[in-house]
Amino acid sequence: MLCEIAPDVERLYNRHLDAPRLWFPHEQIDWGQGESFTERPWCESDYPLSAGVRSSIYVNLLTEDNLPYYTSSLLRHAPKDHPILDWNHQWTMEENRHAMVMRDWVHISRCIDPTLLEVGRRVQMSKGEVPEPETFADLIAYVSLQERATQIAHRNTGAKLPKDDKTGRNVLGLIAGDETKHYLFYRDLTLAAFAIDPSTMMIATAKQITAFAMPGTGIPAFTRHAVRISREGIYGLGQFLKDVVTPVLGLWDVDHLAGLSAEAEKARASLDAVLAKITESVERMAQKAASLAPVVA
Ligand SMILES: [Fe+2]
Ligand SMILES: [Fe+2]
Repeated sequence: MLCEIAPDVERLYNRHLDAPRLWFPHEQIDWGQGESFTERPWCESDYPLSAGVRSSIYVNLLTEDNLPYYTSSLLRHAPKDHPILDWNHQWTMEENRHAMVMRDWVHISRCIDPTLLEVGRRVQMSKGEVPEPETFADLIAYVSLQERATQIAHRNTGAKLPKDDKTGRNVLGLIAGDETKHYLFYRDLTLAAFAIDPSTMMIATAKQITAFAMPGTGIPAFTRHAVRISREGIYGLGQFLKDVVTPVLGLWDVDHLAGLSAEAEKARASLDAVLAKITESVERMAQKAASLAPVVA
């Protein structure tokens, strides 16, 4: 697979480079707004926000902080002299600015507690916990989903910020734009891999969708934050189904793949069953939310 897909990696990497996004982290911040945390310690009323949006900023930023371990996980599948290695370097260079600009904005705007954030970063990074896809096929299927999910999470968080925080909205929009381009690279690389070996990719896709979880399991109180983020309507099972899985599987056209091995057919059937269960859960949650909503006369 790695050998056969090399020309597609080059093609998609060149396409990525042909549409550069040359934004600079230092230009996005209004530095004059900053205040000393020593003279005026952080307090919640500095930037009123719901708990779900605060959790989302915290989890999304810590996930970006964990970049070194994602890079090392990706490099395990990048042999020397293969073009995927160049892509990984480019990807790392672009991802690196996400935590930079987000933290600058967080500190200047005081939107979340900087001490809590730093404690979280220390805990998370000293564990180095990231998903470790077993094979190259697993990796590209997983990262396609993950880049798309990350794009949705940043975009929806930005939309929940107060209208007058133009810097915050702009910063999260820029990051979501980068994630879109990363998603397009992996999505189309996976599409090319389906053309090379549909059975292997079907098995990998079913496995990755079934086991998919947003990155961040090493973050303190991750589950509590994930529940808040989902309740806020930023990212949860509903977004995973509607905004991640449905468009990705549609583009890979998994329903119409022909010539699959028996094992791959089994994987496709198990994926259908998993998707039916997710759909059912999402509908149940929507009904519950509707029944709890206040009746407006
Ligand atoms: Fe990122
Ligand atoms: Fe990304």
